[in-house]
Amino acid sequence: MGTGSSINLDAISHGAGDDHAGGQLYVSLKMESYTPKADLVPHVYGSVPLVGSWDPSKALPMERESSSMWQLSFVASPNHDTLDFKFLLKSKDNNEPFIVEEGPNRQFMGGTLQGVTRLALFRLTTDEVLEYRVCIKADRVSPFDLAASWRAYQENLEPSTVRGIPDVSINAIPEDGENGMSSSLDLDLEQYVVPSPSTPVVYAANLTENPRSLKHNKEPATIKEREVSKSKSVGTFSPLEKEDGQQGLFVDRGVGSSRLVKSASATHLSDSESKNSMPAAAGAVAAAAVADQMLGPKEDMHLAIVLVGLPARGKTFTAAKLTRYLRWLGHDTKHFNVGKYRRLKHGATLSADFFRGDNPDGMEARNEVAALAMDDMISWMQEGGQVGIFDATNSTSQRRNMLMKMAEGKCKIIFLETICNDPQIIERNIRLKIQQSPDYAEETDFEAGYQDFKRRLDNYEKMYEPVNEGSYIKMIDMASGQGGQIQVNNLGGYLPGRIVFFLVNTHLTPRPILLTRHGESRDNLRGRIGGDTVLSGKGEVYAKKLSNFVEKRLKNERAASIWTSTLQRTILTANQIAGFPKIQWRALDEINAGVCDGMTYEEIKKNMPEEYESRKKDKLRYRYPRGESYLDVIQRLEPVIIELERQRAPVVVVSHQAVLRALYAYFADKPLKEIPHIEMPLHTIIEIQMGVTGVQEKRYKLMD
Ligand code: F6P
Repeated sequence: MGTGSSINLDAISHGAGDDHAGGQLYVSLKMESYTPKADLVPHVYGSVPLVGSWDPSKALPMERESSSMWQLSFVASPNHDTLDFKFLLKSKDNNEPFIVEEGPNRQFMGGTLQGVTRLALFRLTTDEVLEYRVCIKADRVSPFDLAASWRAYQENLEPSTVRGIPDVSINAIPEDGENGMSSSLDLDLEQYVVPSPSTPVVYAANLTENPRSLKHNKEPATIKEREVSKSKSVGTFSPLEKEDGQQGLFVDRGVGSSRLVKSASATHLSDSESKNSMPAAAGAVAAAAVADQMLGPKEDMHLAIVLVGLPARGKTFTAAKLTRYLRWLGHDTKHFNVGKYRRLKHGATLSADFFRGDNPDGMEARNEVAALAMDDMISWMQEGGQVGIFDATNSTSQRRNMLMKMAEGKCKIIFLETICNDPQIIERNIRLKIQQSPDYAEETDFEAGYQDFKRRLDNYEKMYEPVNEGSYIKMIDMASGQGGQIQVNNLGGYLPGRIVFFLVNTHLTPRPILLTRHGESRDNLRGRIGGDTVLSGKGEVYAKKLSNFVEKRLKNERAASIWTSTLQRTILTANQIAGFPKIQWRALDEINAGVCDGMTYEEIKKNMPEEYESRKKDKLRYRYPRGESYLDVIQRLEPVIIELERQRAPVVVVSHQAVLRALYAYFADKPLKEIPHIEMPLHTIIEIQMGVTGVQEKRYKLMD
């Protein structure tokens, strides 16, 4: 964590809130209007853990935050009964003399400053006394947020040097208004809502692959449609033409390559290359794919993640999330849901008896649709598909044996078993099932649906055999994101490793994520790309509006945090948001435009026409000379996505156009090729609501 902190200058002597039980104490000390006198710099010294002894030679120097503002911040244990300290002036290189402030020791007890904050008085001579206003504040920060800050700092590797602002800072909640809330917070958020381009959340199973013969049909909505569709399509599973355009060999020329070859920035795909089954990806993803293709056994090129678990254990939600993540990373991934096949072949109104273990017809029918889905998945892999997510209960070893036999020599199977023992989560999932699953779409009586599903669950429970064979990942009680266990058996390789890492970090606890570009910058006004300019006048207005918005929207969310890039325009945009920790990520910096940084698009077109054209042809893969491509940006954002998945509290991300396109694409499940063209307007907040069943979006446009 950075040693510095930026805190609100108006906030004097704020104790930590009582409602913040636990956590660490983040203490900020500031001295205002201090201009160094005879090389003397303000220091702080005191008791453990601030300094360790009352030894002035060990005093901690305060750091200059602006021309006259000096500050020091540190983390202390909240159990620290008394934190005694004093300010003193001494030269930076520890030479005497030093001047200790007048008056008694200052004291924090249990995180609260004792007495009033008085001025710091330093007597230089009998006649000359220096007086400075000080600002002392302590906030409790949860260990979770501290750990996240620390990780963010470590993963960025280098602390930001931009304007000397530390990587982690917290500022105080402004104290205007009787209840401590700014009067500007009366704004009605709903008045800023604008339509969102994305579609509303759909039950995850509906978004999975259709049986091949029904490829271009939608799942029928009514019984009548289902009957027509059944008679026409099911049972005639025909081969299918290849669909999406997300494949092709991508040769990574290396980030920061010094090669400045004429028009070589984009890697174009020949016809033969585009038939290759390599993912459209950069860096590690591409390297792993190349290694797998060249060195690994043939079947390892294709991975089947086969879900296992009782109904209502969140399998489909987990499968949908994993599919989204792998696609975003550039792996050609599809989600096959056996329930969807069953509904298409046998209708959606089957009663619990169909699922009884002693119902031979039901068992046969279920095995048959599972085999159909598996066949489709394997055929798709043989056409180049990389990862298939096979979503069914697969709850007996007999069923799993059947799948393993079908996969032999064709793909590698990893079982992913979701076990949940939390009755509340199971109950929530059952209720969601009755409300959302097409199996109960025509059941108007909630209670009847509920009882039927419970009976279905009983039938499965009687037959259930936990996974104990092959390669597997077991997720035990991990849905809440608190505790739980993950067990891994016989697993290796790049992709399985990434999958485990993702699963360890994700959970289904609802929380909002707010995405916004910085306020308009001076470079935006001039049409220059990249750079590191400050905000325009309009941008500053947005910073103010954003701070009001966030304070209102997250007023009951004390554990929320604000993430910015290390570039001035995002830091300044977030500057006025008070009361939440702010974390700078280098990974959130704008796409690096390399030699084009600071140019306008017109200048690039005029002076580097080939580069301009190459980018226009393939904006996703085009890498600016000595800069980055969108694929590079996606790759460096992976730790950000993992951290956003892991967080249980709201996060506000203030970043840049290209970066936000890539982040948004992850949540909105947009294909890679669309990412560089996603609209990402200024002065607009995209609120992503991470829910149990998927992701929902709401947009607020605060100004033009
Ligand atoms: O123009 C603002 C900006 O953030 C630039 O700094 C950046 O190069 C650009 O947007 C990214 O958008 P595009 O990929 O469409 O050029």
